[in-house]
Amino acid sequence: MNEQFVLRQRPVGLPSRDHLELVRSARPELTVQDELLLRTRYLSLDPYMYGRMAATQAYAAPVELGEVIVGEAVSEVLESSSGLYSPGDLVTSRAGWQRYSVAPANTVNRVPDNGLSPTTALGVLGMPGFTAYAAMTAFGRPTAGETVAVAAATGPVGSMAGQLARLAGARVIGVAGGEQKRNLLLEWGFDVALDHRSPYFSARLQAAAPEGIDVYLESVGGAVWQAVLPLLNAHARVPVIGLVSNYNGTSEPAPAGLGERIMRTVLQKRLSLQGFVVGEFPPELWQRFHAELTGWVKDGSIRYQEHLLDDFTRAPEIFVDMLRGNNLGKTIVRV
Ligand SMILES: NC(=O)c1ccc[n+]([C@@H]2O[C@H](COP(=O)([O-])OP(=O)(O)OC[C@H]3O[C@@H](n4cnc5c(N)ncnc54)[C@H](OP(=O)(O)O)[C@@H]3O)[C@@H](O)[C@H]2O)c1
Repeated sequence: MNEQFVLRQRPVGLPSRDHLELVRSARPELTVQDELLLRTRYLSLDPYMYGRMAATQAYAAPVELGEVIVGEAVSEVLESSSGLYSPGDLVTSRAGWQRYSVAPANTVNRVPDNGLSPTTALGVLGMPGFTAYAAMTAFGRPTAGETVAVAAATGPVGSMAGQLARLAGARVIGVAGGEQKRNLLLEWGFDVALDHRSPYFSARLQAAAPEGIDVYLESVGGAVWQAVLPLLNAHARVPVIGLVSNYNGTSEPAPAGLGERIMRTVLQKRLSLQGFVVGEFPPELWQRFHAELTGWVKDGSIRYQEHLLDDFTRAPEIFVDMLRGNNLGKTIVRV
């Protein structure tokens, strides 16, 4: 039998079992040439899925009611009607939140045989790692001596962005929730690690950036962004990739006049803000990312952490925990 999570209602605020329902159905079968029957081995849980459930992303089609929740997975080929793959091969696919799926062979990618865990294809060497690489190399472009701040810094995007900035010679401030995450950042070589939940966060950020901030990778919004804004230097770059605090309801209502304050700062400091969606980058950049980063991940120049949990039937709760910050590293469900 197949088990799938389907969307029953659009969430407003965090999703629950009222919104995501586990349904059972017959295992799918191959019907045409060049298809693969896949068994999900590892399912990636990512913040963007919230926008697909709530239909709040302008740049991507929402999941429709009754449809399986979207998501990347590492899957094992069980049956193949394609010459490209054989049973037993491991591929990354857009399988979604389900145990079995059928995919055209030309829509999957072989998991690289690089000596690393296949789960790295979903995190440090997958879509999140690539997002950080693309945003930092194409736009953030930190240089030696600059100060870079990164939010959600122990997650797969923030950890890659911060470490790339360190390797470029920048001074890096990592922002994360709680002591355990702070310690991990220091172990990974971040120059400063700050807990955004501390009542002293804003003052500590100011003290940690005596020469201001040149690059801020914006992925959370809310209080962290408001603390960073006055510290941005002239000509600072702000790649905007996500706003998690808006997805999980943890951001306070914005103070009156925030919009004007942001625009005034953009003008006075000649800031550059640019939104990024990972799917818009050309495949050549993805190839360059793999060519440059695989060695660094293997030799430990880039460190990473995976939050690997076992129970697929708890995927909604694991997803909500990730949005709230109760994860340490890339959230993946072993199916
Ligand atoms: N634009 C794109 O194409 C693209 C692609 C991939 C990812 N992204 C974005 O990149 C961001 C990070 O993704 P990820 O996969 O690496 O996620 P992640 O870090 O594994 O998980 C999200 C993290 O957000 C932090 N967070 C939650 N509420 C917060 C708040 N109010 N203030 C500060 N931090 C808060 C939590 O960490 P703490 O405990 O540290 O607070 C939580 O662990 C997300 O915004 C995601 O949507 C964008």
